[in-house]
Amino acid sequence: MLDIVRRNRRLREKSPIRALVRETKLHVDDFVYPLFVTHGVGIKEEIPSMPGVFHYSIDMLQDEIEVITNLKIKAVLIFGLPEYKDDQGTSAYIEDGIVQQAVRHIKNLNKELYVITDVCLCQYTSHGHCGIIENGLVLNDPSVQLIAKTALSHARAGADMVAPSDMMDGRISGIRALLDIEGYQNLPIMSYSSKFSSSFYGPFREAADSAPQFGDRKSYQMDYCNSREAMMEMELDIQEGADIIMVKPALSYLDIIKQGKEHFNVPMAAYNVSGEYSMIKAASKMGWIDEKQIVTEVLTSIKRAGADIIITYFAKDIVKWLNE
Ligand code: PBG
Repeated sequence: MLDIVRRNRRLREKSPIRALVRETKLHVDDFVYPLFVTHGVGIKEEIPSMPGVFHYSIDMLQDEIEVITNLKIKAVLIFGLPEYKDDQGTSAYIEDGIVQQAVRHIKNLNKELYVITDVCLCQYTSHGHCGIIENGLVLNDPSVQLIAKTALSHARAGADMVAPSDMMDGRISGIRALLDIEGYQNLPIMSYSSKFSSSFYGPFREAADSAPQFGDRKSYQMDYCNSREAMMEMELDIQEGADIIMVKPALSYLDIIKQGKEHFNVPMAAYNVSGEYSMIKAASKMGWIDEKQIVTEVLTSIKRAGADIIITYFAKDIVKWLNE
């Protein structure tokens, strides 16, 4: 028995000292809020599996942008639901596509709000895959061409940053090269570098109507059993020109966030995805958990693991709670 006990509890006894020694603190600047935009007028429709998250038609965005701006949230991530789908995902890269329209509109409402666009084909293809298909296979290089074209059309619409989420090989260099040729050398890329083939995307696929019509995404999204492969994906993306790397989902992948943070010197983002949101919403609706406490703990854990940026459907809630 030691004579002098190391009494760690001294610094836990009172709330002010707990605050002073706290290592990880959430801040409004940590968060990006995802937005779902759709064609039509007068639409503000709640996504059944994601209570509190809505589909907005462009004309209905104004109030939402005002709320986000007043909360001082710095950035949004735009997802689009197109008017039509085809096997080439054409509606992803047309000039008046839904994301392109939304970007122009949001920039008109508030040019200071940082607008990031999700760049992918799965919402826009009739088969629901993130690339184009030949003989039942998702082709890589031709898909990259269309993905780069999509990124360019977002840039032309005024996006501040593009975020490719498709997991094709070489897409970051494909996008970077096209953006540079077209004069967008200063437009950053946030790459969904380590995007795992995950069941946590279920509610999003309902929200974005983007479930694959055959097979699954395992031939391009990563196997969640692998962490060395995740490091290789990050390394390649950085070499290809990614400015920010991302891990997705977040909560079951805190080890990947931490490893990536230790390995690389670019900012790290984490996507607290739809399934992670819905589980908390469902349990709190049942009265089984305290939503505010759980969300705060979850988001803090993502930041503690090493995320500099947290993309979350809870962004508005957490910022409100931080302001209380
Ligand atoms: C599109 C995309 C997905 C998500 C973001 N971008 C779905 C998927 O890959 O199936 C998931 C977001 C979420 O679950 O919140 N490729």
